[in-house]
Amino acid sequence: MASIKVKPLSPHVGAEIGDVDLTRPLAAEQVSAMKDALGRHGVLFFREQPIDLEQHRRFAACFGELHIHVGGEGTASKPDEQYPEVRKQHFHRNSKRVSGEVWHTDQSCAEIPPMASILHQTIIPPDGGGDTLFASMYAAYDALSPRMKTFLTGLTATHDGAKLFDKGTKTVYPVSSHPIIAVHPWTGRKLIYVNRGQTTHIDDLPAMESDALLEFLFEHIERPEWQMRFHWREHSIAFWDNRCTQHKAIWDYWPHERLGYRIQIKGTQPPVAAA
Ligand code: SIN
Repeated sequence: MASIKVKPLSPHVGAEIGDVDLTRPLAAEQVSAMKDALGRHGVLFFREQPIDLEQHRRFAACFGELHIHVGGEGTASKPDEQYPEVRKQHFHRNSKRVSGEVWHTDQSCAEIPPMASILHQTIIPPDGGGDTLFASMYAAYDALSPRMKTFLTGLTATHDGAKLFDKGTKTVYPVSSHPIIAVHPWTGRKLIYVNRGQTTHIDDLPAMESDALLEFLFEHIERPEWQMRFHWREHSIAFWDNRCTQHKAIWDYWPHERLGYRIQIKGTQPPVAAA
């Protein structure tokens, strides 16, 4: 009975979900169909879902425990006063920067990065703008040559929150090492897990080799062939999988306002891909 509609929005990443009302509790079949769609498409979009923070938390909790953002106060988003696991992303005329302008996957600097994030926009700029780009890390992996895949498999890279967040604060940011080629725990598909926002170096390689190889990977990851661009409307929701996608927020709407609330769901350490 409780089926959902899944409409792919591009060949590699993103699907719009229909026939669901997120202001109401979900049925087990709906949660299971969304998990399947999330692993497959990487990011799910919902339209016209005027949820409040309680409903947002209840929706996120269907997929796991809620993650509390690591990294202190050097971030453009701020914790909600009532619910610390909710990040308020409010940008306007007086903002000096916004969250997520550099390609990244959320909190890869954490030892256990959040597996997914759910962002609900409540105020959007009046003349468009403020879109978000998403990219498939499955497709980026698949497009590497067999020799490059072999070379990268088994290597790890270091992710440092200080690279992305505001260095003007005294916060000590998390630093963690993760496999460069990881396996998605639900789909078994391989993916690239380094990002321009937080990855600082490839472990066990000299700096020159690490810098050159990382720059190659960042440019490869950011190619438009495996991207899509999401145009927000009021009460749109994006639910992205941090394991197999990256995203980038576009700040082209200054001096206008954009307000959203984001909740993250706890994950597991990215599993190492076998050679
Ligand atoms: C983020 O959470 O990284 C920002 C995404 C967005 O604001 O579109």
